[in-house]
Amino acid sequence: MKSLVVYYSRYGNTARLADALLDALRKKGETDITQIEYMDNRQNIIMRTFYRLFPMFVKLAPVKTDLTDYDLLCIGIPVWGGRPSAPVTKYLLLTKNTIGKKAICFYVYGFKESAKRCSKYVKSFLKKKGFSSIENIFIHWDDVGNEASLNQSISEAIIKVSSHKT
Ligand SMILES: Cc1cc2nc3c(=O)[nH]c(=O)nc-3n(C[C@H](O)[C@H](O)[C@H](O)COP(=O)(O)O)c2cc1C
Repeated sequence: MKSLVVYYSRYGNTARLADALLDALRKKGETDITQIEYMDNRQNIIMRTFYRLFPMFVKLAPVKTDLTDYDLLCIGIPVWGGRPSAPVTKYLLLTKNTIGKKAICFYVYGFKESAKRCSKYVKSFLKKKGFSSIENIFIHWDDVGNEASLNQSISEAIIKVSSHKT
């Protein structure tokens, strides 16, 4: 199974989770990692609010969007305003050759209910893009440093996603 870990992280929590996932996946097979970034990182709060409402207008720095070579996309999602942070939504809009691929969505959140709502939105989005199976990992931003529980959640998600047939 070849995997791609993709994440956006403004404050570093989702990045820590992405690194832990990368370590776990590399024990199973070839895994690449790439970070989603704004083309211009100097947005003010007005621009960020605008992008929250209209993520299609976000301009991303170059990032791998073609999933042809991969079986599994792991996408790191900081929850903002009950939705994925705007660069993640824009990334998902740009992804190509997604039909039949597996996904692990890893959410870093402040409020569980909000993260659950966000995951429903992402799941329906990924289904429309033809992903065959979707597993979720939810980590409160306060728990990102809890290595044992992080690794437990990661290995459970990897086992579940590996058991799904393509
Ligand atoms: C402007 C802002 C809005 C946020 N909105 C939400 C939200 O709606 N729901 C939630 O569960 N967490 C929310 N959070 C908490 C973030 O999900 C949390 O801080 C996360 O760790 C950010 O990821 P990062 O450290 O990788 O940037 C928000 C945080 C910020 C700064």
